[in-house]
Amino acid sequence: MDLQLFLLPFFFLSLVNAQLRFNFYNSTCPNAESIIKSAVTNRSNTDPSITAALLRMHFHDCFVRGCDASILIDSTTKHKSEKDAGANQSVRGFELIDEVKTALEKECSNIVSCADIVTIATRDAIALSGGPAYAVPTGRRDGRTSNPNEVNLPGPTLSVLQAFSFFQAKGFTLKEMVTLLGAHTVGVAHCLFFRDRLFNFRGTQKPDPSMDPDLVSKLQRQCGRNNLPIATDPTAFLDQNTNSTVDNEFYNQVLKGKGILLIDHNLGADNSTVGFVKQFGGDANGFLQDFKAVMVKMGSLNVLVGNAGEIRKNCRVFNATPKPSKGK
Ligand code: HEM
Ligand SMILES: *[C@@H]1O[C@H](CO)[C@@H](O)[C@H](O)[C@H]1NC(C)=O
Ligand SMILES: *[C@@H]1O[C@H](CO)[C@@H](O)[C@H](O)[C@H]1NC(C)=O
Ligand SMILES: *[C@@H]1O[C@H](CO)[C@@H](O)[C@H](O)[C@H]1NC(C)=O
Ligand SMILES: *[C@@H]1O[C@H](CO)[C@@H](O)[C@H](O)[C@H]1NC(C)=O
Ligand SMILES: *[C@@H]1O[C@H](CO)[C@@H](O)[C@H](O)[C@H]1NC(C)=O
Repeated sequence: MDLQLFLLPFFFLSLVNAQLRFNFYNSTCPNAESIIKSAVTNRSNTDPSITAALLRMHFHDCFVRGCDASILIDSTTKHKSEKDAGANQSVRGFELIDEVKTALEKECSNIVSCADIVTIATRDAIALSGGPAYAVPTGRRDGRTSNPNEVNLPGPTLSVLQAFSFFQAKGFTLKEMVTLLGAHTVGVAHCLFFRDRLFNFRGTQKPDPSMDPDLVSKLQRQCGRNNLPIATDPTAFLDQNTNSTVDNEFYNQVLKGKGILLIDHNLGADNSTVGFVKQFGGDANGFLQDFKAVMVKMGSLNVLVGNAGEIRKNCRVFNATPKPSKGK
């Protein structure tokens, strides 16, 4: 037999092994998923906003280099990390990931990646906030790069078309982008990201006429006219009706002129996306089904598998590089 033909099955076998799969830790760390769930449940009981924190962390991780935990790396004086990009993205929840990692290192050292922790914790938080429960394939490895210059995420004032260029580049359809933005069904935005809509929309010295006037008044009071540093800037819920529940209500709010970020409003105003917004707004279960599928897809973006990358011991720092052996 031809050598290439003979090797072909082995080649495919190695490909099959080098990918995400369900229950990846079932023999190496069988309690991994239950330990993660327990920590997320504990936190969620006292702080329901953890769901929003994790969802955004997962998005910002996956959209930069792929879901490789590059977002978790702390900056050092020598090496700035993704956390140093922009207003360091106001991503939060890192201490929960640390807590889980510590518990997992005790249970089974060097086995469970930080990238999988973020993915599983996000999945668990969604289910604890009224969202769908779903299985996620695992086996992600942690990356060895985290560079603020690589952070290129969409901004809140983009048009639908501009935002779509980011999502299309990652392999998402327009409908999938609308589905992913349904994550704005939970969590908050700092006023600095939408204050112009309240006081001076497009230089008019007037509020955005497309925002519900009662909401404009409420947010004007809540935010104040002047920009503040992000640490002291007030925040507002992204979903005005069910602020901490993973549901389709975000879309109905958008259709009522109650989208907070301009991009959220634009989804309901743009001909190319308003149909999806109406569809999800009218179909609670349909949204949840599509949302879980798109979350699994996002969680699979450019993952490191097999022997790539590493399993970090501390999610905030790369493992020490083994010193090259001396003598030669
Ligand atoms: C065009 C795409 C997107 C834009 C422009 C955008 C923009 C923003 C902005 C400006 C904030 C407020 C941040 C702050 O004030 O600290 C925010 C919050 C949030 N975003 Fe997005 N986002 C986008 C897509 C997504 C996606 C795909 C997800 C998840 C799948 C997501 C999840 C969240 C969550 C959960 C929050 C609330 C965070 C919290 O409460 O801490 N976003 N987003
Ligand atoms: C782990 O899962 C794989 C595939 O799902 C299965 O073949 C294997 O028997 C399981 N191992 C344990 C220890 O449950
Ligand atoms: C969650 O809380 C329970 C009850 O207080 C505790 O037994 C458990 O160890 C906690 N889990 C984690 C992972 O912190
Ligand atoms: C963001 O920067 C502020 C100020 O430099 C710092 O206090 C905060 O811890 C940083 N956040 C993250 C997540 O690194
Ligand atoms: C957030 O949601 C909770 C629960 O539905 C509700 O009691 C609370 O009033 C909401 N907060 C705001 C500011 O809308
Ligand atoms: C959007 O659709 C409306 C109604 O069908 C139409 O009047 C309008 O011209 C369309 N706008 C664009 C930019 O296609």
